Amino acid sequence: MILILDFGSQYSQLIARKVRSFSVYCQILPFDTSVAEIRGLAPGGIILSGGPASVREKGSPKIDRRLLTLPRAESQAAGFPTVPILGLCYGMQLLVHLLGGEVKPQSHSEYGRAMLRHNSSDPLLRGVPKRDTVWMSHNDAAVRLPSEWRALAGTGGCSQAVARHRKLPLYGLQFHPEVHHTSHGGQILRNFVFNVCGASADWKMADYIEQTVTETRARLDAARGARIVCAVSGGVDSTVLAVLMHRAASGRCLPIFVDNGVLRANEAQIVMRNFHDRLGFDVKMINAGSRFLRALRGITDPEQKRRIIGREFVNIFFRKLRPNDFLAQGTLYPDVIESVNVRGPSATIKTHHNRVPEILALMKQNRVIEPLRELFKDEVRQLGLQLGIPRDVLWRQPFPGPGLAVRILGEITKGRLDILRLADAIVIEEIRAAGLYEKLWQSFAVLLPVKAVGVMGDSRTYANVVAVRAVESVDAMTADFARLPWDVLARIASRIINEAPGVNRVVYDVSSKPPSTIEWE
Ligand code: XMP
Repeated sequence: MILILDFGSQYSQLIARKVRSFSVYCQILPFDTSVAEIRGLAPGGIILSGGPASVREKGSPKIDRRLLTLPRAESQAAGFPTVPILGLCYGMQLLVHLLGGEVKPQSHSEYGRAMLRHNSSDPLLRGVPKRDTVWMSHNDAAVRLPSEWRALAGTGGCSQAVARHRKLPLYGLQFHPEVHHTSHGGQILRNFVFNVCGASADWKMADYIEQTVTETRARLDAARGARIVCAVSGGVDSTVLAVLMHRAASGRCLPIFVDNGVLRANEAQIVMRNFHDRLGFDVKMINAGSRFLRALRGITDPEQKRRIIGREFVNIFFRKLRPNDFLAQGTLYPDVIESVNVRGPSATIKTHHNRVPEILALMKQNRVIEPLRELFKDEVRQLGLQLGIPRDVLWRQPFPGPGLAVRILGEITKGRLDILRLADAIVIEEIRAAGLYEKLWQSFAVLLPVKAVGVMGDSRTYANVVAVRAVESVDAMTADFARLPWDVLARIASRIINEAPGVNRVVYDVSSKPPSTIEWE
């Protein structure tokens, strides 16, 4: 097992994902986890993440020095006698600082691509070209290494971008090997995990299932009479979650689907049928459409729409929760990366509906179960395949919790919902017919709050405009607009104008994220 100690980096989970992709189990814990606890876990190696602090600041996060010479467990006796450590960015600066080197602010901070040069045969750099692109993001850097360290590689702005202790297995990288832009970052992490730590590639997604099932059962057994109330939307994440929770606690799991009135055409029926016919268990449906629509009446501000929908959801789920029940949510890593790091001190970037105050309070009571929170979408799909969930369910495109409410710009009315439902169904039908559905991250229609002039038959019209959005993405953090074939766009436009009443114009959104977002609200 490789342990990642998190110093508040936005990238900690990317490191974990990389290590898991080598079939090596990996766990993230806060930087201040006690030495006793770490020893108990018997890690084969430790990675110290980056972080926003500076080691020069008073009170900046530190580790216990005893970690630097932590004896390895008996079973790992081969290789180094102590647990290898790799410090990344802040993690490296911390090692250098603790061992008597000097860390200073750079005269100019270094962000973005840099050229790494080396001539080293160290196992950490095996297979890494002598000149290679790496990605930097730092203010501070090690300007003098501890006496027992040596530099293995440098960049133009940082002569000790890779360094190590001469005898102990302590390494530091000033750059981020976990991000996509470091071209051989995966190779460096792989070298650390296999060449330095001697890990073996024997961890599988099946182990993740077994581990989650065992942990969930243990939590349930410790809480007398408790059930798991499980929020189901029919999307990939909540379906995998519900199947996983059902496997762990079938009789004590209560999956709930809420019809919030802003779902796509036939959504509720499709979801209920999928569970009943194809997944082998039933989900309880709560029909709350009119209640949501009442609360949304007259609301045009996107954030207010989100807040209202989030609040109604919370009210419904909390009414179902008995005093010691658990709430299970399909929160994924990208959901929390932009809000709060669930296991460390990452800075908050954006709030999320899975992190509203009521849920945070429940988390404090240890009553929230989020087994997917360390996974990315592609990993969740792999997990779903292992659980026997049909492929077409797992490859459904994501659909936001606030549903069509954030795709009807301006006020939500029944008439506007009807128009958008029809337009959206046409987009999906045509994208499927063109064999593009699974290639796109999302494809959908948006109803704009403007009217345009048109001509239909012999008369002029003054009617609605629909925007079509289709994007490619791997994790929704960045996205590019899809270069759809013209004839597919033409069919979509023509069908929407002909079949959706009150629409006389269709436009295609050619913006990418950033700076735009995927949704329009
Ligand atoms: P944006 O629009 O921020 O969306 O680029 C990124 C991804 O998140 C989805 N999304 C949401 N999902 N509640 C959700 O459950 C929301 O409030 C929400 N807003 C955006 C969006 O569909 C895309 O996949």
